Amino acid sequence: MIKNIILMGPPGAGKGTLAKMLLKEYDLVHISTGDMFREAMKAKTELGILADSYISKGHLVPDEVTIALVKERLSREDTLKGFLLDGFPRTLPQAEALEKIAIEISRPIEAVINLECDQKELIRRISGRRVCKVCGAPYHIDTLKPKVDGICDTCGGPLYQRNDDNEESLKVRLQHYVVDTKPLIDYYEDRNLLVNFNSLVALDVLFDEISSFLKK
Ligand code: AP5
Repeated sequence: MIKNIILMGPPGAGKGTLAKMLLKEYDLVHISTGDMFREAMKAKTELGILADSYISKGHLVPDEVTIALVKERLSREDTLKGFLLDGFPRTLPQAEALEKIAIEISRPIEAVINLECDQKELIRRISGRRVCKVCGAPYHIDTLKPKVDGICDTCGGPLYQRNDDNEESLKVRLQHYVVDTKPLIDYYEDRNLLVNFNSLVALDVLFDEISSFLKK
């Protein structure tokens, strides 16, 4: 079983949704930099206030801040059972830093799952996304509706629209993806770690495809 994994893809490709599905089946530590920043923003910590000033405009949080956060999280003992990195790395300096951290903690990356999706669909998904304020479960106003309007099926929390899920921020996020994150596809291909999946297929189909790959 492959267990030290990076989940990569543009905003809206389905990283968070798939991560939650995979974690129901596999005992892995989920390390989502987006979720960590949103938690800090909710708690209005120093990190949260700093992150908010970048995230709300669609910009990336500076590398040194993000790398330090992930380094600390990866160094904890629970990651020995395996981890799913979601949204990290997304720049070349982050990928290089991760390579060093992985050597230091003797937990090498075993696979990079790259979710491919076209821009029109990314915009549709992000503009219709709603998220649970309590547990972070993702929904969609057309394709992944909760049983009761505005209420999370899992924990009963209220659903809301993220403040970076607007047209203006999304444009900036997609630009960052192309300029900063897309080059990592070649980076991981060169290291024979990259596996591409078409995220335009139905979620259960995609989940089964990724699941069979992880069990290889
Ligand atoms: P982050 O939270 O990581 O956001 P993101 O990468 O922009 O990705 P999203 O959460 O928007 O999308 P997703 O791929 O998880 O899609 P989802 O599953 O929700 O980061 C937020 C911000 O934090 C960044 O912009 C940046 O500022 C900062 N940040 C984070 N990490 C950083 C780093 N390493 N360095 C610097 N800054 C960092 O799905 C979207 C919607 O589509 C949902 O409604 C879902 O229901 C639907 N959907 C998903 N898959 C399917 C499917 N197969 N079919 C139909 N619908 C689907």
